[in-house]
Formats: sequence, C-alpha cells, structure tokens
Amino acid sequence: MEKSILITGGAGFIGSHVVSLFVNKYPDYKIVNLDCLTYAGNLENLKEIEGAENYTFEKVDIMDEVSLKKVFEDHNITDVIHLAAESHVDRSISDPLAFVKTNVIGTVNLLNVAKSYWKDYSKHLFYHISTDEVYGSLDDGGFFLETTPYDPQSPYSASKASSDHFVRAYSNTYKLRTVISNCSNNYGPNQFPEKLIPLCINNIKNNKPLPVYGKGENIRDWLYVVDHARAIDVVFHSGKNGETYNIGGFNEWKNIDIVKVLCKIMDKKLERESGTSEKLITFVKDRAGHDHRYAIDASKIQQELGWEPSLQFEEGIEKTVDWYLQNQEWLENVTSGNYQKYYEAHYE
Ligand code: NAD
Ligand code: TYD
Repeated sequence: MEKSILITGGAGFIGSHVVSLFVNKYPDYKIVNLDCLTYAGNLENLKEIEGAENYTFEKVDIMDEVSLKKVFEDHNITDVIHLAAESHVDRSISDPLAFVKTNVIGTVNLLNVAKSYWKDYSKHLFYHISTDEVYGSLDDGGFFLETTPYDPQSPYSASKASSDHFVRAYSNTYKLRTVISNCSNNYGPNQFPEKLIPLCINNIKNNKPLPVYGKGENIRDWLYVVDHARAIDVVFHSGKNGETYNIGGFNEWKNIDIVKVLCKIMDKKLERESGTSEKLITFVKDRAGHDHRYAIDASKIQQELGWEPSLQFEEGIEKTVDWYLQNQEWLENVTSGNYQKYYEAHYE
C-alpha cells in the first residue's frame, strides 16, 4: 500500500464522508478508521464501504495511548487525518471537561504517539481538522482570515483552539509535518440530529416545535459536508507544511432564515399546506454566550490549492432534506439508540 492513513472520528458526521471519499478514490491507500463510538459515532454511516479491501475499523479511544501505539504498529500508519472530537457547543456548555479530555488531551496523546512512532518526519503528515469557531465571533462586517487572532468564546471553541495550538507547537518544537484547516458549519447526510439543520428536519417531520435560540438573528456560514471532504482531500495532498487553510462556503444565513427555508422545502416534500411547518417555530432562551456571526474568507485555499465548493446551497439543502426523508431507518435508529448496537452485531 502506498500510504496507510489513520482517520480518527471516521464514524462521525464529517469523518464518515472523508473515510468514504478516501476509500473509494484511493484504492492504493489503506484507510484505518479509528473511533471510540461515542453517542456521535455511527458505523451505519459507513455501510457502503465497510467491506472494501482497503478499509479497516479500530474501536479505540484517542485517550488510550497503549491502544493507539498498537494501531500505529499493526497498520504501519504513515499519516494522520484527525477529526475525532466532541463537537457540539451546547454539550460543551453543560460538560466542558469532556471537551478538554478528548479535544485537548486526546489530541496531544495522538501527537505523542505519531511523534514517537515516526522516524523521518519528512515522510509523514499530521493533518488536524478544526473549526472557524476558534476565531471567536464577528459583528456584521468582515471575515475570518487565516491571520485572524484566536479568540474562542465557548468551551467547545476553547478546546479546539487549544488543540490547534498544540499541533502548531509540535510543528515548531519537534518539526513534525503538520497542517490545519478551519472550516465553517457543515450540513448534509449523516449529521447527528442535535445540530440545527437535522434537528429541524426531524422535528418538522414529527410535528414537533423548532427551538430557535434568542431571536434567530445569529449568522452561520454553511458548507455542504461533501465539499468539506473534498477540501480535506486537497489539503491532505497539496497543503504546505505548517500552514493553515480556512474552508467555507461564502454562504451566510441567519438561523431563522435557514429554519424558514427548511419549513418551505418540507411543506412541499410532505405535501402539507404552505405555511404549516412555520407554525412549529418556537423562540426559546438564548444559548449562553451565543456567538453572533461566523464567516470565512476561503480565498487562500481557492487561490493556492484550487478548491471551491461544488454545490450551491439551494441544491445542497434540498439533497440533505431528501437524504433524511429517504433514510428514515437511519434517523429512527439514531433517535432510539439502536445505532449503538451496530458494532456488536457486525464487528464482534
Ligand atoms: P461528530 O460529533 O459527528 O463526530 C465525532 C466523532 O469522533 C464521532 O464518531 C465520535 O465517536 C468520535 N470520537 C469522539 N471522542 C472520541 C475519542 N475520545 N476517541 C475516539 N473517537 C472519538 O463531529 P463532526 O461534526 O463530524 O466533526 C468532526 C471534526 O470536524 C471535529 O474535530 C470538529 O471539531 C470539526 N468541525 C466540525 C464542523 C461541523 O460543522 N460539524 C465544522 C468545522 C470543524
Ligand atoms: P449548531 O448546529 O449547534 O452549530 P454551532 O453552534 O456549532 O454553530 O447551531 C447552529 C446555530 O443554530 C447556532 O447559532 C445555534 C442555533 N441553534 C438554534 O437556534 N436552535 C437549536 O436547537 C440548535 C441546536 C442550534
């Protein structure tokens, strides 16, 4: 095999798209998906590729140094694409320590294992996947650039910022080859229905309230998840050592407008009278410390690496709604908890 790539968090939302893309596109690479299957890990996301010859799954926690070392040795890991993380801001507000453990200590653990296993660092890459939330919150003007100072505001973004700093410190101190990308909000198939878009799709389907925090005026920059996976492919293969790349869709939406778009599409798809789903919108107490606006300037990755989003938002959101409606079993398994039995049934 040309490369043996460890992808962490591959059973999650973005990771499952990255694993699928790499397994299908690079038959000469061995893809090792390492994931401890928290509530956010779902092996059903990988049904289509789980039988592929160049794919292996390892149920391991990134906090577990001994098991990590064994995975590096067993598969002769040449490169890492690190996505495993606690990823939900609301959960970080109720349990910050879980975010410190996985996102900070877990990342340092993984860096240590890579640092001690690899001998000639020029032959290996540690690619860390991060978020635009590390830059803090914007007012109504301006964009996040790669040079924007870090100013994380939530326990989630503070933990991701810390992990980014550690990756840069390992690059500077030990000369590990590293690259980091910071992406805006993703949407698309396989996203756990605690995040705004799948939560609304699921609730509209079940005639449940759509909880909009505060006045719904907060702004996010949305990118279709497959376009993020394509960007990760490009950065992995062409990104320069020590660099950071911002990834975004140039696609800003107020939350309330996103929710209204979803209501309109769902009314049509479910053949409900126009305006039916909007009645479910319920303004609720604002998130503590709610960041006002995120917006990425993705010129660097566009100009230097030639990546740009392939899907318009209108197309991506329609595809997303169709996917959730056509994959009711996935949604039911996730909401009932049955998805957590997939590992025992198929891997043990
Ligand atoms: P997710 O929550 O859907 O998936 C995270 C995965 O990591 C899960 O499969 C989970 O089981 C696994 N995991 C968690 N803790 C682990 C541990 N200790 N050991 C091993 N595996 C563990 O997250 P996502 O939305 O797919 O995000 C993936 C990465 O991309 C994260 O690093 C996140 O910070 C980053 N990111 C996400 C977004 C977004 O909009 N979702 C945007 C930018 C960046
Ligand atoms: P979310 O999907 O949790 O992503 P993030 O917090 O990482 O941006 O939330 C997206 C936006 O939607 C954010 O401004 C919070 C808001 N939101 C709601 O209004 N209601 C909800 O139930 C959720 C989950 C989020």
